[in-house]
Amino acid sequence: MVIKAPPTTLTIHEIYQRIISDNDLFIVDVRNQEDFATWHIETAQDIDMVNVPYFDFLEDETGSVEQVKTEKEVVVVCAKEGSSAFVADILHQHGFQANYLAGGIKEWGNHYVFRTVQETDNWQIYQVDRAARGCLSYVLISNGEAVIIDPLRHTDKYLDFLQQKGATLTYLLDTHAHADHISGAPDLAAATGAPYYLHPYDGIHPFDILPPKISYKMLADGDEFTVGDLKIRAIHAPGHTLGQVAFLVTAASGEQFFFSGDTIFLDSFGRPDLGGQGEKWAPIVYDTLFNIIKEAVSDEALLLPGHYAKASEANLNGLFAQTMKQMWQSNGALQYTERDEFISFVLSNLPTMPEQYIEIKRVNAGLVEPDEEAMSELELGKNICALSDAYDKK
Ligand SMILES: [Fe+2]
Ligand SMILES: [Fe+2]
Repeated sequence: MVIKAPPTTLTIHEIYQRIISDNDLFIVDVRNQEDFATWHIETAQDIDMVNVPYFDFLEDETGSVEQVKTEKEVVVVCAKEGSSAFVADILHQHGFQANYLAGGIKEWGNHYVFRTVQETDNWQIYQVDRAARGCLSYVLISNGEAVIIDPLRHTDKYLDFLQQKGATLTYLLDTHAHADHISGAPDLAAATGAPYYLHPYDGIHPFDILPPKISYKMLADGDEFTVGDLKIRAIHAPGHTLGQVAFLVTAASGEQFFFSGDTIFLDSFGRPDLGGQGEKWAPIVYDTLFNIIKEAVSDEALLLPGHYAKASEANLNGLFAQTMKQMWQSNGALQYTERDEFISFVLSNLPTMPEQYIEIKRVNAGLVEPDEEAMSELELGKNICALSDAYDKK
């Protein structure tokens, strides 16, 4: 019998790379079933994975080990690292090559992947994927200048990337005041001096109706920003929030990219009720999707959304992107194109609103300043910004 090496830690980066390149790992997630259902490691590839709670290993070691049916190397995942080290030891004693995730599942929550959308000699566009949350942000670079759209809160990831690319941050653009995650824009503005733009309707907290305590520059429909060979135009596209803006970017070569924020996704669209006004805002969503966006954005433009619901929405390059033409043809949530039908479809399919979303909006308005642990807690699990329940039920 080959003696397997004793368990050691693997970083989330190592695990992610192994899965997407060789898919030679088997994950044993030992958190309870509810936490596992809320979120777990996911990639566009199917992962060999089983959820066997830690307490099952304590109560019935043999029965639990029998659920790990694999010849592959095992990685044990738990909340903080302690129980996964313990279970990895048990599996090692049973003859498995077993290691465990360093730092526990929160490291998955903090894992970012930078992917190239397009790179030319004169400009480059990157999609930044915080995979645990299905949150996407973007870095655009041209002539040594950079713009970040919807930066997430781990600002060091962006600063390191810009340094690596030798680019200086020129503008920070938030498509809207986010409810599902904490924006990194105010901190990046403070760190770099780059101006932070947000539509003023979204500066005000929709429940508290209090003025914001962050400083930002007011973004308006039609505003233009130029970064080297890239021209960025703001399109006010309300409904998901009243201050929701999308950005249409045109390269000097004529190619267009539509950064839709939470207006429209590859297979859904932004729900209208996160400001507590679903009935009033659902008709606004309709007008934005079918009048404003359909008119303003050409079929050839590449849609780059603010979220995805499932890792399997990625294309063969791992990117969450498709042309607007493809999106209009395949978006499962756009089955009703008549105004009244659309509105009643939306209102009868609204997913539950996560309670913490009201507090996250307070953080983004600068009204409260939670510590790191509280921020992690607020951001647990996948975003629920889309009307995804609606098309899942079809
Ligand atoms: Fe949103
Ligand atoms: Fe969102």
